[in-house]
Amino acid sequence: MKTEVTPVRWLGDALTGYLELLDQTRLPLEEVQHRYTTHAGVGESIRAMIIRGAPAIGIAAAYGVVFGAREAAAQGLHPAATFPAVRALLAATRPTAVNLFWALDRMERTVEATAHLTPHEAIERLHAEAQAIYHEDIENNLAMGRHGAALIPQGARILTHCNTGGLATGGYGTALGVIRCAWDQGKVEMVYADETRPYLQGARLTAWELRKDNIPVTLITDSMAAFFMQQGQVDLVIVGTDRTAANGDVANKIGTYNLAVLCHYHKIPFYVAAPCSTIDLATPDGAAIPIEERSAREVTHVGERQLAPDGILVRHPAFDVTPASLVTGIITERGVARAPYNASLAALFA
Ligand code: MRU
Repeated sequence: MKTEVTPVRWLGDALTGYLELLDQTRLPLEEVQHRYTTHAGVGESIRAMIIRGAPAIGIAAAYGVVFGAREAAAQGLHPAATFPAVRALLAATRPTAVNLFWALDRMERTVEATAHLTPHEAIERLHAEAQAIYHEDIENNLAMGRHGAALIPQGARILTHCNTGGLATGGYGTALGVIRCAWDQGKVEMVYADETRPYLQGARLTAWELRKDNIPVTLITDSMAAFFMQQGQVDLVIVGTDRTAANGDVANKIGTYNLAVLCHYHKIPFYVAAPCSTIDLATPDGAAIPIEERSAREVTHVGERQLAPDGILVRHPAFDVTPASLVTGIITERGVARAPYNASLAALFA
């Protein structure tokens, strides 16, 4: 089943078209679309998490480069003249998800390859590359879904964390893509969605997305995972990742490491769904992955409502790193990697 949920759409042609983003800060209560026509606007949408999820961030940034090229052309410049500044603005939005830098690298190579073209021809080429990044992401998610679904037992009760679905990607999803494919094969009895404090991607987004596609979902708070595992009600955990290092250490939404430790204790498989665009062979291990620290307000407030005392000290690392030793398998569009990950991940790129 292909989901209709898509966070990002380009409408119109390369020279005059625009980007439409579904505002994920307003879900599930309101479905509001915003229109973007500048690279700075796209950068702000990523920073503010109007669009979020590792692959979706990369796709949005690629379209942001197209706007940067259009802005250059409007000043009579070739896109190469302004690309370093455009890249710097987009790259400064969120540090952990490597897809952002992977997509910007791809767009940079395209800018370099257009040096001999007119600005308008260069814009057409950059737009085609951004469209390719978008469409390849959906194809990769479908392939990852097929590889991952083969690992799911009949009647599976699956726990997942954060949002890894159509909303976090070009469409279909990473970990939720595997769940979607297994659901189509009649294997899924229930999906447990962690609420995913503090930003509540599980409660707001995963619950909304699975309900929309009629996949059975039960919302739990993050602290309930151990209880349901102890009760024998969870058969496996699948999560996504924002960056997986060369040794298989997995950075993902804060709280993922807790789940991996719980799985180890309860002898439950812990799978990670990772398109190759999220695997960073240049980063040797998890210690080298930059962890985004987000605002205290996202911890002290839910929406506009304050929950904690004024002036309280707060920490808000948005991601954690799960050591490779706790990961049962890394599901990619090219197959499932198993430990030792240094060798199996490198083999995927060979
Ligand atoms: O802070 P977010 O909502 O962008 O974090 C998203 C996640 O952590 C996802 O699990 C991750 O991007 C991988 S799946 C698309």
